[in-house]
Amino acid sequence: MADPIDVLEQEAVAALEAAGDPDALEAWRIEFLGSKGRLKAMMSTMRDLGPEERPVFGERMNRVKESLQAAFKQRSTAAADAIPPMDVTEPGTTSDLGQRHVLTRTIDEVVDVFGRMGFSVEEGPEVEDEWHNFVALNIPEHHPAREPAENFFLGNGNMLRSQTSTVQIRVMEHAPPPLKIITCGRVYRPDTHDATHYSMFHQVEGLCIDRNITMIDLKTVLFQFARACFGPEAEVRMRPSFFPFTEPSAEVDMKMKIKGRWQWVELGGCGMVDPNVLEAVNIDPEEWSGYAFGLGIERIAMRRHGIADIRWLYENDERFLRQF
Ligand code: DAH
Repeated sequence: MADPIDVLEQEAVAALEAAGDPDALEAWRIEFLGSKGRLKAMMSTMRDLGPEERPVFGERMNRVKESLQAAFKQRSTAAADAIPPMDVTEPGTTSDLGQRHVLTRTIDEVVDVFGRMGFSVEEGPEVEDEWHNFVALNIPEHHPAREPAENFFLGNGNMLRSQTSTVQIRVMEHAPPPLKIITCGRVYRPDTHDATHYSMFHQVEGLCIDRNITMIDLKTVLFQFARACFGPEAEVRMRPSFFPFTEPSAEVDMKMKIKGRWQWVELGGCGMVDPNVLEAVNIDPEEWSGYAFGLGIERIAMRRHGIADIRWLYENDERFLRQF
């Protein structure tokens, strides 16, 4: 009859040989070397032996245990080494990085160009009162620009501002001249959406109040801006117009390619600040004069990047946005 210790050892060695992966190795460890494993079980048969047989048995069992432990350790290291190393040439999992919206970038560029011409940046609220949106800007009670159909009134005397000219008033209320500021922000009008109109859009408003300011200063600043923004070849023009808060007033147009044809497109309005506006904020029009302008930022972005439809700017279609 075969010796039971030899049998157990041979079985263990054969099973270890066959255990090919970490799971099988762990199962083997539990079966043979575990606290309820086969070696432990055989060890417990020692108490059935006579006193002179016990030390011999115990010693043999210990040697078998040690040799199996060593064999197990060796197999485990070999199995770990056999795990294929990471392939650094495989394509990685990339996370999608966002980027700033083309309008945000345009605003930064506009701020940069005017900054170089000495304008600092101011901000004003989008929820406004009628004093800042109309009254102080010399827009009288029954002016068509105050019609409910032209504005988002909020019913509590407030409204969503329809123009950034509101910020001219807010700045002049709080700071004495000389002033040279711009502000960029959203304005709201209940326009029907089409390729060039949207019910919310952005304007850059400029205001310069100082002594001896003339329309030449205004024209210089606007034409310099257009060249910096659209390139030295950019065509811009000023056309006589009317705004209640400037006198004289002008509209600024730029040449823009639409459906393959270069056409004049309105960029915004401008003019010399009306004395009534200065008086509304307690600035003496005999001592101070200035100019103001308000330009559409979407139009600037569309001209710079050849964007044909304003609605694309708000659709959040990544295929469009990722181009810039
Ligand atoms: N606020 C005018 C608008 O939204 C644009 C404008 C015209 C702004 C003339 C000005 C200005 O500052 O002087 O249509």
